[in-house]
Amino acid sequence: MTRRKLIAGNWKMNGLRAAVAELDRVIEAAPDAACDLLLCPPATLIGLFSTRAAGSALMIGGQDCHPKAAGAHTGDISAEMLRDAGARAVIVGHSERRADHAETDALVRDKAEAAWRAGMTAVICVGETEAQRDAGAMLDVVAASLIGSVPETATADTTVIAYEPVWAIGAGRTPTLAQIEEMHGHIRETLRAHLGVVQGTGVRVLYGGSVKPENAGEIMQVRGVDGALIGGASLKAADFLAIAAAS
Ligand code: PGA
Repeated sequence: MTRRKLIAGNWKMNGLRAAVAELDRVIEAAPDAACDLLLCPPATLIGLFSTRAAGSALMIGGQDCHPKAAGAHTGDISAEMLRDAGARAVIVGHSERRADHAETDALVRDKAEAAWRAGMTAVICVGETEAQRDAGAMLDVVAASLIGSVPETATADTTVIAYEPVWAIGAGRTPTLAQIEEMHGHIRETLRAHLGVVQGTGVRVLYGGSVKPENAGEIMQVRGVDGALIGGASLKAADFLAIAAAS
């Protein structure tokens, strides 16, 4: 089965309205991309970016959502609110959320279901720490996190997985291509067991962590890699588009 590649940008806590110039460059080039394109700016820019990207090949997404639809949760944003602002997808369980806000697999799972409830795709992140890899526990850690974070009802249409080794994020270093292939194969097997063969085969599995224009070509060729989740390099349209072109 062929899975269309997805190149997703995560701007994290970066970007003011002036960054619309970068967005416009991506929108302009989007029709030429041979892959799906998703950009997740901070929540403050989702409305503006979605309006701008309407009708283009670029999807706009959020970086997190609350599991509930509405209520007394000061400072939080629900999946319904993101969708209402124009988001089509939302990242859940990014390692920075897991670390900074003590998010558990169970909470991430609830957030994925909230994304679906609102009519969005959930981009569910998993990945091991450096200590876990050094201890040789990375395959077990990632499988357990997948089983805890991905609802059994996930489908290829509603869900994307991002494998992001915590030690590679913003670090300028990546696993070897063999390590990426090993982990993506393991994630695929885990998804097939967890979701059934059809959905487990169809869900896209992205690699994330220090993807740059220079290494994107070789990483995207690795068996089982269905695209990338890009932090730092997604802030510049030229780099984001170069990575998309390399996919
Ligand atoms: P990075 O971040 O590309 O800056 O390493 C990736 C991510 O956190 O999604």
